[in-house]
This record gives sequence, C-alpha cells and structure tokens, in this order.
Amino acid sequence: MTDQAQKLRELAAAFKAQPRIITVTSGKGGVGKSNLVINLAITISQMGKRALVIDADLGLANVDILLGLRNKFNLQHVIEGQMKLKDIVVYGPAGIKVIPGSSGIPRIANMSSRKRQEFIASFKELEGEADIILIDTSAGMTKNVVTFALLADEIILITTPEPSAITDAYAMVKVIHTEKPDAKVGLVVNMARTDAQALDVANKISQVARQFLNFHILVLGTLPVDPHVPRAVMQRRPWAELYPRSPATRAVKEITARILNGEARAPVHGNGFIQRISAYFKSGGEE
Ligand SMILES: Nc1ncnc2c1ncn2[C@@H]1O[C@H](COP(=O)(O)OP(=O)(O)OP(=O)(O)O)[C@@H](O)[C@H]1O
Ligand SMILES: [Mg+2]
Repeated sequence: MTDQAQKLRELAAAFKAQPRIITVTSGKGGVGKSNLVINLAITISQMGKRALVIDADLGLANVDILLGLRNKFNLQHVIEGQMKLKDIVVYGPAGIKVIPGSSGIPRIANMSSRKRQEFIASFKELEGEADIILIDTSAGMTKNVVTFALLADEIILITTPEPSAITDAYAMVKVIHTEKPDAKVGLVVNMARTDAQALDVANKISQVARQFLNFHILVLGTLPVDPHVPRAVMQRRPWAELYPRSPATRAVKEITARILNGEARAPVHGNGFIQRISAYFKSGGEE
C-alpha cells in the first residue's frame, strides 16, 4: 500500500479547499465515536459554524438512530446511483446536516472502480454545504477506515482507559503513522473515571508514539463517564443539546473550542480536493 499511500499523502497535502474534514476513528469498537461525532457537530453548530456529519460506518450505521432521524434515503442509494449525495442530506438538531449511512454497504475497496470513482467524486457536492465535515467510521483498520482517515485534514482517535482499547488505539496510531507520517492526530480519552486517569492514558499513548515512532499526537481532550450520555441515547437525542450543563457536554465544548481554535488553514488554491481524489481513483488508486 506504500505507493498508494504516497499518492494519498500528495492528495491530502493538495487539499486546501473548505470544508475542513475531520475523521473520527478508534482501534476498538464501542468506545464512543458516534456519540463524540454527533455531539461535536451540535456544539460546533451552537458555536456558529456549519457542521455536517457523514455516517461512514458502512458496517453498522447508527447516527440516524442516535439522532432519532427519519430518512428515506442513505448512502446506499448514492452508491447505487439512485440519489445524489446532496439530495440525501437531512437536517438534525441544532441545524446540523447529516448524511445517513447504511448498514451492510459493500466496502469501498470492494466496489467496482467505476462505482468507487462515482462515490468519491460525489463528495464534491458537499464543498459548499458546511464549514466542518465530521466523518464517523467503524472501528479498526479496514480499508474503508484507512481511506477516510487519510483523506481527512485531521484524525480524531478516541479510546477508553481499558487496556485492550489502549492497545488497539496504539495499533491504529502505528498504521496511521505508516500510511501518513505527517497526519494530524488528536487523541480523545472517553469514559475515564477521573481526570487523572484520562490524562494518564492520553500521556501514555502520546509518549509511546513519540518515543517509538517520533510521531507527535495532540491530546485533544477527555470525556468523563456520564450517565447523561446513555440517558440521551435512549431518548435518541444528542446529550449536548438535551443536557447542556452535563459533565460530558462541558467536556465536549472544550474539545470543540480546541478544534475551532486550531482552525487556521492554508489558503485555497489549485484544484479542489475532491477532483484530486477522483483523479487518483481514476488512475487506479487504492486496491
Ligand atoms: N462518556 C460516556 N459516558 C457514559 N456512556 C458513554 C459515554 N460515551 C459513550 N457511552 C456509551 O457507550 C456506548 C457506545 O457509544 P458509541 O455508539 O458512541 O460508540 P462507537 O465507538 O461509535 O461504537 P461502534 O464502534 O459500535 O460504532 C453507547 O451506548 C453510549 O451510551
Ligand atoms: Mg459508532
């Protein structure tokens, strides 16, 4: 995958157009990716920026369920060529936009090259739709996840303090570093019992990455275990909206502020990112 990774790196470097794309991923499953994506989007929107969530967990899509959305169309219809990406955008709470996913979509890597080109090229339709696009992925290092992670401007890697989650997160760090040594990775520790525990986990991962890979990872923040989270999930509402003063909401606001403050971008020039991705896939890209 090294030649392809080189191509992807060049593409990513060439991408200076808005919107800013952030992919949220994890090594282990069930560590809080979808909750983070949705509630980041809510707080980003509350802070005055247009947020769009893409549910790219192509195995077990659930952003629409977490948000209580009713949507007739999803990514499956785009992949099958029945709908345009722009036409399946639905509005969620706080004015966020959502591209609903679909469970059981064939892997991008398994699509025919024509289908894949069409799918990736269709992301161009979203260029004017948002200031920040947040992509929710499935856990682990599938080709889908690698593709979405490498094509983003930034990657948020989320873990819990569980030893297996930490080990899997570090495995993910290694893959990201191999594929894209200059990737901008922000680490979020979720469901820590105490701040001290969260910081300990974050420091451990970032220190190991620095020591063994010379890879610098930003510690973006921590989210406490908060009973408001499962409570909101049961109500199919985002906790950042439903419980604005809950510990989780306070924590996600800090993470959002950190993301927005780091917003300085290089000037827009050259072809858009999407054209470049399309050209890359046309040239027989990632397989
Ligand atoms: N900070 C938290 N406090 C309490 N519970 C939480 C917290 N974060 C997440 N959870 C719970 O953990 C479960 C998994 O969360 P979520 O679905 O966001 O994880 P995920 O990483 O997207 O999972 P998957 O890998 O299956 O996509 C949910 O039931 C949620 O209620
Ligand atoms: Mg999820």
